[in-house]
Amino acid sequence: MVTNFTGLQPGQEAGEENNLVQQMQMVPALDAVQALASTTLHCVECQTMYPALEPVPRYRCDCDGVLDVETNFGNANLHEPQTRETTFFDDVDTLPSIGASWRQRFDERASSPPIWSISTDTNLLDASGVWRYRELIVRVPEKYVISRPEGNTTLYPVGMENCGMGRIGHRQIGVYAGLDRFFLKHEGENPTGSFKDRGMTVGVTMAHVMGAKAVACASTGNTSASLASYAAQAGMRGIVFLPAGNVAGGKLAQTLAYGATAVQIEGDFDDAMHLVEHVCNELGIYLLNSLNPFRVEGQKAIGFEILQQLDWQAPDWLVLPAGNLGNTSAIGKAFRQAYQLGIINSMPRIASIQAEGANPFYRSFMGKFAERHSVHAETVASAIKIGNPVSYTRARRVIEESDGIVASVSDAQILAAKAVIDRSGIGCEPASAATLAGIRQLVERGVIKHDERVVGVLTGTLLKDSKTGIPQDSGGIVVKPTIDAVRSILEAIEA
Ligand code: F0G
Repeated sequence: MVTNFTGLQPGQEAGEENNLVQQMQMVPALDAVQALASTTLHCVECQTMYPALEPVPRYRCDCDGVLDVETNFGNANLHEPQTRETTFFDDVDTLPSIGASWRQRFDERASSPPIWSISTDTNLLDASGVWRYRELIVRVPEKYVISRPEGNTTLYPVGMENCGMGRIGHRQIGVYAGLDRFFLKHEGENPTGSFKDRGMTVGVTMAHVMGAKAVACASTGNTSASLASYAAQAGMRGIVFLPAGNVAGGKLAQTLAYGATAVQIEGDFDDAMHLVEHVCNELGIYLLNSLNPFRVEGQKAIGFEILQQLDWQAPDWLVLPAGNLGNTSAIGKAFRQAYQLGIINSMPRIASIQAEGANPFYRSFMGKFAERHSVHAETVASAIKIGNPVSYTRARRVIEESDGIVASVSDAQILAAKAVIDRSGIGCEPASAATLAGIRQLVERGVIKHDERVVGVLTGTLLKDSKTGIPQDSGGIVVKPTIDAVRSILEAIEA
């Protein structure tokens, strides 16, 4: 499907006007339109197809359903591996070699050290834990890519058996979970401290392709910080809509420091989400919530990177916290595509964990997805305080096709799990700890077996929220600078 962009010359960019109150014109670059010719947007509700790029960006189907990026890997470049879909039925034998060639390509890229040219700024795509997998993410010409780079986060072995002598502290997490072979993927190690950077590098790249002058999102804090950083890098205006009083101090400070305009909404995240979609459509600002299907494509890289770090041996389970459900959708899609391409031989089961006071997806799951629930959200884990998740249908597909599960944990369980992760020396933000709380519950229920290989995602850093779940009364003990004073303090601690 090709859109006719009458009047545009190859490479022509959008106009320079930057007036936010007038509708801003976006014009997709023609070379990017051509590069994305084999990519379409599919409605997840009614399957209608749209071109990947249109002069007015499309975030929803005419039926209101959300959109999903579909790339035809096979036809895009004849020299590249074919998909399981195109080969599976007629030539089963070739699939292992197709998968092997993808793995080899990604391993070669991961093993070459990034070298910056002294005189020019080169785009080191292979150094990014997102763009390393670019054929499976989005095929835009390199010159448009806006990358820090991001990704390359640590996969910590924390199980009772896969934790060596040098990780005695980390092993406590495996003991708490009741798992022998357990890994934590710490996405808080991304440039702005959360997994959001992976979707954001792709989202802002697409804004660049579109010639957008301003980008916006609604956020519980991490998306806004990420947007602000990447918008600053790209020279775009960042505008974020936040639920007033419900964003951790560090996230707000970070967003403002990067120079974004923060609009505090008298309402919750769901109100902010509703508003930002309206604002973007009315004012021609490029929307960067995970409603934007390209953000989901970038977040898939968490899944690819986990598989690569496990030497392409798929884990039995992937467990993650769930709010707006973009991440559940993205990681599930990554595993599905890796399986279809023969990169892995089995599909991991996905477990999405919600906070008890913000668990609409869990309610729908418990009713076998007969009904889509929404709730008025309440939880100490402000990042996942979301009552009406946008990516419901995408995530439902992931849970159903991966034989997955949705669980619900209390705030007390989240904070207890956070204390275990923090005290191990790894640390994470409250929402991330829902992962460990959920795993502990699922192991206790016998859903996850103690000897299965499990990867849990920690979505954000400890550093942005210095209040929730961190002892506030022990900011250090003040003593006289004498050995006796120190000795008596240490004796008191041991007593
Ligand atoms: N963990 C953290 C730390 C988050 O910031 C979020 C979402 C989630 C988990 C849930 O991920 O929405 O893809 O299901 N934060 C968004 C934000 C809503 O605005 O920063 P999800």
